[in-house]
Amino acid sequence: MNQVIDLLKNHRSIRKFKKEPVSDEMVLTIIEAAGAASTSNFIQAYSVIRVTNKKNRKQIAELAGSQTWVEASPLFIVFCADLKRSENTCLFENKEMASGFTEQFIIATVDVALAAQNAMIAAESLGLGGVFIGGIRNDPEKVCELLKIPNHVYPVFGMCLGYPDEKPEQKPRLPVNVILKGDHYHEDQTDLKKYNKTCSEYYQNRSSGSREDTWTRQISDMMSVPARPHMKEFLKEKGFGVK
Ligand SMILES: Cc1cc2nc3c(=O)[nH]c(=O)nc-3n(C[C@H](O)[C@H](O)[C@H](O)COP(=O)(O)O)c2cc1C
Repeated sequence: MNQVIDLLKNHRSIRKFKKEPVSDEMVLTIIEAAGAASTSNFIQAYSVIRVTNKKNRKQIAELAGSQTWVEASPLFIVFCADLKRSENTCLFENKEMASGFTEQFIIATVDVALAAQNAMIAAESLGLGGVFIGGIRNDPEKVCELLKIPNHVYPVFGMCLGYPDEKPEQKPRLPVNVILKGDHYHEDQTDLKKYNKTCSEYYQNRSSGSREDTWTRQISDMMSVPARPHMKEFLKEKGFGVK
């Protein structure tokens, strides 16, 4: 349809990179593009930490679940929801921030996700590839310690970027008629069956026949066990309460 849509529809996560570094100029362009995203109330409630320290990279790779690409990628950045800057604007204006509201948590988390997706698309448009790393939330306290992340800031996910050294098959997405509902919400059981078949074929192809899986099996396996239950206390400690 056009180049932007072609680029978006060509996305796949990249976890294997060439050694070639990403230039500083490119990093700046990517972060500028990230910053151009829409932002709730113009708050721009995020910061991005570029991690070059090798020891920290190694530790983060391990705590993220031994994700070797975190250590090996030419560029690794951590996207943080950041309300500290908002707190500073209040101090600057001699006001006290009314902190700890769930709404502020949502605002900062959505803001950083929008900026990060802009970064990913910008990077892909420059011939790079990458992958988000939610695994850093396995041990967010350690990530904060390593990266000196203060209260009112929390690391949401990392992102590995670099020149791709693989071209994995694209993961098939849910069909539009499952996502897009006309006028009101309705369930989509029948379409999920079809999608399971599509995903099953994808896993068979990608694994040369060795992986038997369906989408509902994969997601239900994940959704039927507690999901990082430490996050509630961690967020509270960081000043992201639930008021
Ligand atoms: C917030 C977020 C966190 C993610 N965390 C990880 C991660 O820790 N490790 C990883 O290998 N992929 C991670 N991914 C990538 C997803 O697994 C991937 O986007 C999804 O399976 C779809 O595949 P695709 O991006 O190749 O289309 C993450 C994606 C998002 C959006």
